[in-house]
Amino acid sequence: MKTAVVTGGAGFLGSHLTDRLLLEGYRVIGVDNFITGNPANLDHLKGNPNYSFIEQDVTKYIDIPGEIDFIFHFASPASPIDYLELPIQTLKVGSLGTHNALGLALAKKAGLLLASTSECYGDPLVHPQTEEYWGNVNPIGPRGVYDEAKRFAEAMTMAYHRYHHVDTKIVRIFNTYGPRMRLKDGRVVPAFIGEALKGEPISVFGDGSQTRSFCFVSDLIDGIYKLSQSDFHEPVNIGNPNELTIKEFAERIVRITGSKSTITFQPLPVDDPKQRRPDITRAGKLLGWKPVVDLETGLSRTIEWFKSRV
Ligand SMILES: NC(=O)c1ccc[n+]([C@@H]2O[C@H](COP(=O)([O-])OP(=O)(O)OC[C@H]3O[C@@H](n4cnc5c(N)ncnc54)[C@H](O)[C@@H]3O)[C@@H](O)[C@H]2O)c1
Repeated sequence: MKTAVVTGGAGFLGSHLTDRLLLEGYRVIGVDNFITGNPANLDHLKGNPNYSFIEQDVTKYIDIPGEIDFIFHFASPASPIDYLELPIQTLKVGSLGTHNALGLALAKKAGLLLASTSECYGDPLVHPQTEEYWGNVNPIGPRGVYDEAKRFAEAMTMAYHRYHHVDTKIVRIFNTYGPRMRLKDGRVVPAFIGEALKGEPISVFGDGSQTRSFCFVSDLIDGIYKLSQSDFHEPVNIGNPNELTIKEFAERIVRITGSKSTITFQPLPVDDPKQRRPDITRAGKLLGWKPVVDLETGLSRTIEWFKSRV
């Protein structure tokens, strides 16, 4: 039986990834300090003999006894509200945390997959974004703490691959949504669903013409699992290329929830990207992966999950 470590294992994506790895026959060790994670995301794993958990800050030295085959490094505040509130922790987990996770991979002769982000492309001047694009990031803007931490994490990961021959992979994750997101994490999907279910006005930033593309969590996890099994070391975009304006997206949520909410417009946050859409050609060719859950189905499943939590 192979052993995988999931840092950030109590988070939204880390907990879904854990479920997939257990299904695939892995023994899983979760590591998390709950800074933005939720212990309830792991409740269903209590008593599972193939799951164990270590409460730890990964910016501190990590030592896990026994054999480890693969490390999924997902620990990091991920929503704009979180990383704006936790700027130093975000920089530390991307830099020191990634260094520690890579050190553990080297010591254990394990593979490592880094959860990177479309934020590496900043406010992109190339559309849609291919992995070859180097990005347009403001290093000193408020979002710089997250974007630059992840860019540093990618550089550190490639250095461990080139100089220590660690078997590393890098996934650039585009906006993902689904059950287990926190209602108040500031990301657009839970924010709009929460407002729609409460019948409150939906707060759209700017005039709502900025675009985003949203990937349902099961599609994303499938792409990440397939990447972990590949022998490709450069970044791979995983996300859904179906692009909508934020205003269209708000209208879609109002319709699916059957809400009477109206749409209001708020000032645009600093350095908010105007458009985001992954080019997923590389993931298609390398992994035979493409998203299969359409927005209507994914949103209905997510709304159902949020109904009892609003
Ligand atoms: N959800 C998305 O759409 C998205 C998009 C791009 C990238 N990502 C990346 O995926 C990863 C997971 O994101 P998520 O959406 O699940 O966020 P999340 O906040 O739900 O999960 C992150 C987890 O990391 C833990 N963590 C943070 N700092 C830590 C530290 N120093 N030590 C130990 N644990 C720590 C948190 O407690 C939390 O459980 C992040 O690295 C994020 O940057 C997510």
